[in-house]
Amino acid sequence: MALYATAATVLAAVEGRRGSIKGLVYASRFQNVKQLYALVCETQRYSAVLDAVIAGAGLLRAEKKLRPHLAKVQRRVSRNEDLLQVGARPGTASQVPRFVRVNTLKTSPDDAVDYFKRQGFSYQGRASSLGELRALKGKCFLLDPLLPELLVFPAQTDLHDHPLYRAGHLILQDKASCLPAMLLAPPPGSHVLDACAAPGNKTSHLAALLRNQGKIFAFDRDAGRLASMATLLARAGVSCCELAEEDFLAVSPSDQRYRQVQYILLDPSCSGSGMPGRSLEEPGAGTPSKARLQALAGFQQRALRHALTFPSLRRLVYSTCSLCQEENEDVVWDALQQNPGAFRLAPVLPSWPHRGLGTFPGAEHCLRASPETTLTGGFFVAVLERVEVSR
Ligand SMILES: C[S@@+](CC[C@H](N)C(=O)[O-])C[C@H]1O[C@@H](n2cnc3c(N)ncnc32)[C@H](O)[C@@H]1O
Repeated sequence: MALYATAATVLAAVEGRRGSIKGLVYASRFQNVKQLYALVCETQRYSAVLDAVIAGAGLLRAEKKLRPHLAKVQRRVSRNEDLLQVGARPGTASQVPRFVRVNTLKTSPDDAVDYFKRQGFSYQGRASSLGELRALKGKCFLLDPLLPELLVFPAQTDLHDHPLYRAGHLILQDKASCLPAMLLAPPPGSHVLDACAAPGNKTSHLAALLRNQGKIFAFDRDAGRLASMATLLARAGVSCCELAEEDFLAVSPSDQRYRQVQYILLDPSCSGSGMPGRSLEEPGAGTPSKARLQALAGFQQRALRHALTFPSLRRLVYSTCSLCQEENEDVVWDALQQNPGAFRLAPVLPSWPHRGLGTFPGAEHCLRASPETTLTGGFFVAVLERVEVSR
């Protein structure tokens, strides 16, 4: 009887006839948690029958179509590229390990390592080469050779249901996407502006580096993505961030609120051409059209030029998950030319193996990333710093 009720309610919910999944969980007939738990156990015993019922209703086909959207909802992201940051990747990208950033606002790498060891994972210590990351198998894991709070698991490891992830102690974030906050390196107490911030993985990383001391002004113009971001930040224990639904281009650099902003992270919308699996869900998305590239690069240039006008700015990180020169080196070169002698590219991570395309003098200070060269998603990072005038 319980099975029948559950299957019927699931079918109704999936077909959208009655309520939502939330409605299902909070349906008044489940008067207490024990009852609900018993019902779930009972349902699991009959899961094969339930599958047959759903398959009979033709729902598996629909589910397959909806799978990317369901995954986005489950992982609280709104775009395919964000899903790829935390999900399985096809092709060469399936070799990219699962990177897990330990959220130091809530725990420490040592405690996270202990937790995984108690769960039967085998800890191999801090890696000293990419080869060690590539060779990871089974239930083994490592600490990343570069980032002190980054755990590395074999590519197939799925931690989306892990209690530490659900509690905000772990952030599932690709290693390349950890570079911007790490390279911006704002000291605790400083004021930071995150110009295009949602869904907020890099903001939460910045907050961890600040130890929640100081202030992050985070902007995004997409209300839905900001809502996901608020959830993410709350779960991660971030308390130093002010979120605003605003077009960054309309944020005034002369506003007194931002007079102490010395650090800016600019991670604008991009083609996502570095996200290896996009072509699976959006055929052709890996190679953006000329018109789309022009539009994106136009916005990226305006945003970078605008960011460089904040009067107290000392250091800025510009990043994209694109591999297109138009969105990367060209944008940075444009900004440097607009501000001759005022900013320069900081020579960061000299041992990083994949550098900017040599399209202008100094472009080798930019960093690129890809599954083949750095065992990460495709990415670009440039660090601009104000040239101090000696008196
Ligand atoms: C690549 S995503 C940012 C990812 C984010 N930094 C993170 O690590 O989670 C780019 C974001 O820029 C936002 N955006 C685009 N144009 C904007 C604008 N003019 N002002 C503010 N945000 C903008 C988009 O809504 C999108 O959320």
